[in-house]
Amino acid sequence: MKTEGYEKLKNSIRKHDYNYYVKDDPDISDHEYDELFRKLLEIEKDYPDLITQDSPSQRVGITPETGFVSYSHKKQMLSLSNVFSPDELKEFFTRIKKRIIDIDNFDILCEPKMDGAAVSLIYENGLLVKGITRGDGTTGEDVTSNIKTIKSIPQKLLPSTSINIPKYLEIRGEIYISKKDFSNLNNSAKKNEEKVFANPRNAAAGSLRQLDPAITARRPLSFIAHGYGDCEGIEIKSLNDFFNKISQLGIPTNNLNKLVNNMESCLSYYKNILKNREKIPFDIDGVVYKVNDFKLQDRIGFISRSPRWAIAHKFPAEEASTLIEDINFQIGRTGILTPVARLKPVRVAGVVVSNCTLHNIDELERLDPRVGDQVIIRRAGDVIPQIVKVNVSKREDNSQKVKIPSTCPSCGSEIIQENASDWGVHDDKKQVKIKTFGSKIEASYFIQSNPERYKLKEIINKAAFIKCSSDFTCPEILKGSLTHFVSRKAFDIDGLGQEIISTLIKLNYIKDQSDIFKLLNHKDELENLDGFGKKSIGNLLSSIKESRSVDLSKLIYSLGIPEVGEATSRNLANAFLEFDKVQYATFKDLIDLDDIGSKVAANIIKYFQDPFITSLLVRLLPELDVKPIEQLSDKDTPLKGYQIVLTGKLSKYSRDELKENLINLGAKVSSSVSKKTTIVIAGENAGTKLKKANDLGINIINEDNYANFLNEPSKYI
Ligand code: IVH
Repeated sequence: MKTEGYEKLKNSIRKHDYNYYVKDDPDISDHEYDELFRKLLEIEKDYPDLITQDSPSQRVGITPETGFVSYSHKKQMLSLSNVFSPDELKEFFTRIKKRIIDIDNFDILCEPKMDGAAVSLIYENGLLVKGITRGDGTTGEDVTSNIKTIKSIPQKLLPSTSINIPKYLEIRGEIYISKKDFSNLNNSAKKNEEKVFANPRNAAAGSLRQLDPAITARRPLSFIAHGYGDCEGIEIKSLNDFFNKISQLGIPTNNLNKLVNNMESCLSYYKNILKNREKIPFDIDGVVYKVNDFKLQDRIGFISRSPRWAIAHKFPAEEASTLIEDINFQIGRTGILTPVARLKPVRVAGVVVSNCTLHNIDELERLDPRVGDQVIIRRAGDVIPQIVKVNVSKREDNSQKVKIPSTCPSCGSEIIQENASDWGVHDDKKQVKIKTFGSKIEASYFIQSNPERYKLKEIINKAAFIKCSSDFTCPEILKGSLTHFVSRKAFDIDGLGQEIISTLIKLNYIKDQSDIFKLLNHKDELENLDGFGKKSIGNLLSSIKESRSVDLSKLIYSLGIPEVGEATSRNLANAFLEFDKVQYATFKDLIDLDDIGSKVAANIIKYFQDPFITSLLVRLLPELDVKPIEQLSDKDTPLKGYQIVLTGKLSKYSRDELKENLINLGAKVSSSVSKKTTIVIAGENAGTKLKKANDLGINIINEDNYANFLNEPSKYI
């Protein structure tokens, strides 16, 4: 029977409320909480006699605690029902249509659903007289002194030429902390060894309920209006009308709001906001659709605690809890072993996740995840999934800490560990290896000379990692390195996929990169191998032959030096012009280049010092014909000295194409906007980079004036 477990369900929701609101330490995701609540409402809908006064459904939020004076809202502060799918949204429209059969077309205001804390602001004759939290929807807490510390909330409404200051105005909205402010807030909390906040919403709600307004004043709180409370002395017909008017009176409103008039447009709004979620400066967890016209709202009415004329369309949950089924170590092309949690598959942000990286052994130590543990994972936008919390309270007694392997799972070689403080940089830009004696760090020898003592300026390794001590005799390292070597941006060899590489390794045809070129001498044997046709071998061999003539930058990139990507490879090629100059560059030569920091320089030095790499290069280089770098004259590099940033969605050119083009003309293309940026090329939906460029007064062009810019670049700076 459906009512079974009703009591248990109520208790479980109460416990989660306590963890969330009082302890500030939720142990399930918001989505799972919503699911429990939904179950409760379903049972109560079917069996209304069961409902008790103390059911979690009978209160909207939390009961005010002592410390603040209670305040009864003149009109209840309602909450919103949720939908999660277009089908459920359709039901919402059907319910509305039932109540307004005579109306065919009506406006709907679409808004982002902000993830902060709801408040009500009361202005009398233009002056802010009260700021009240939502509380349980009926009674809130008077937090006026705290609200008055929030800079975006006017203490006095702005005079407007077209609107008289109303006698009474009650505005509802969300107090929030922007993503950027939140990260600054937590960074400084970390520095001062204070407690960090779980998320911007908890930080905003907590800050609002500080008994000392001086503390609230130090928190970066902001406000955006999203609801109408009441008014006197001003005529308002709809929500949109309300937002336009209060905006003229100086109240922050949401510029992402949009008026539409059908369900399809609501869904397009939802998709668009979801797509741009990362770029929106504050956290949102969905969108809200509201019937715009006040008279229609009245006709449509309410269902207990929420209006029937509004609904929240929630985004797929970004957090979910699941079980760790196994933890093992993956070997990359550099030999580094990355711990990976194998999870019971779970859907997060619309994607099924079954693996989750644990990054490095420091992270393993910090989180202490164990097989059998219940964990909360998070996947925001395109970001790779992370374990954000291990539910230690649900851990089995016999669970075991993850054992760091002492031998490589692929080849059995010894595992070596590099500690967070193993490498550093001396004042004089020299790289040193460090020894740690307890808490004392001593830089013990200069990497390219005899042991010396140095004063350390910077530690390069920020996290500890473990590595297979072997070289290409480890099949996983060899496979990873070869896959990278033949990839499109490196030697671009067609027909050498992972599986063929594995087969050729097994058959002993390939022991390192140089052997790829030796395949050309084994045409007949290869053609006779199982699964390899004459035609495919023909294509493969001609692709290999073609690839022999290679740009210096691609050759550098193909080696897979840790953290040396395409752009760094190109910089190295342009700076040193010949391969052996890169190979024998000193730490100081490297670090003197604009775009190379101490960590990347250290990686390059370490790579070329490895005796195995030296011998590999002796075999590989004779196979290749490295194209000379053309020294371009100033005439050929009209964009020399230009630092350009690309942002937003480009439609006329592909991003790679445009980047290549700009670099060929002498420009430097960087990924972030700074004072040094000369020009920003902005496509559609450009977000924070464009804003930063505007703030710094940097010139911005779009794709349409790109051609004009190339004709006369100086005109644009
Ligand atoms: S309207 C009558 N609009 O969601 C409807 N609420 O579950 C009252 N929220 O307490 C709310 N963004 O804290 C509304 N654009 C938005 C919102 C929004 C966030 C929060 C608000 C409210 C809760 C309702």
